[in-house]
Amino acid sequence: MKNNSLSIFSLLLCLFSFSMLIQADTPLEKKMDQMNKAYKELSKSLKNPVEGNKNNYQKLAEQIRDLMKESGKLSPEKTEMIPADQRAAFIEGYQKAVNQSVATLDSLIQAIQASNWSEAQKLIALLKQHQKEGHQEYRAERP
Ligand code: HEM
Repeated sequence: MKNNSLSIFSLLLCLFSFSMLIQADTPLEKKMDQMNKAYKELSKSLKNPVEGNKNNYQKLAEQIRDLMKESGKLSPEKTEMIPADQRAAFIEGYQKAVNQSVATLDSLIQAIQASNWSEAQKLIALLKQHQKEGHQEYRAERP
């Protein structure tokens, strides 16, 4: 009886560890999640910008820019699925795409500083486009 409960416990522990393993967020997913929260808040605020909240918008844009920069130092999960001889080109493409978004975020920060709201709205929409294209190309498909 004692042995039986022990093996059931071990089995449950194994199942639990396995499910944690397959659900575990990659370091890049963690950055992307943080970026997503700040992006959503900023994107919503820029629909009806309030001059007095400019500093807050700038902080959010800087936060997204810094997270984007840090994302560029990590490799997408999909890298492992790319044939070895194409992997360097894949990573190079990924880093270029990230740098493009960093440059767009730098422009967004400038537009916010200048209270150029129409420009800021264009740039936040452009980032959405980057996100779409970046995910199509570099994000692994999940079952
Ligand atoms: C505003 C811009 C972006 C936002 C808000 C965003 C948001 C997200 C979110 C919410 C996830 C899922 C995280 C999870 O599963 O827990 C994700 C994953 C991912 N994103 Fe983005 N993303 C953005 C731009 C980009 C760009 C420009 C690229 C590539 C150049 C990119 C590459 C990826 C990759 C590769 C993953 C999968 C993570 C992995 O492979 O480990 N994202 N992103």
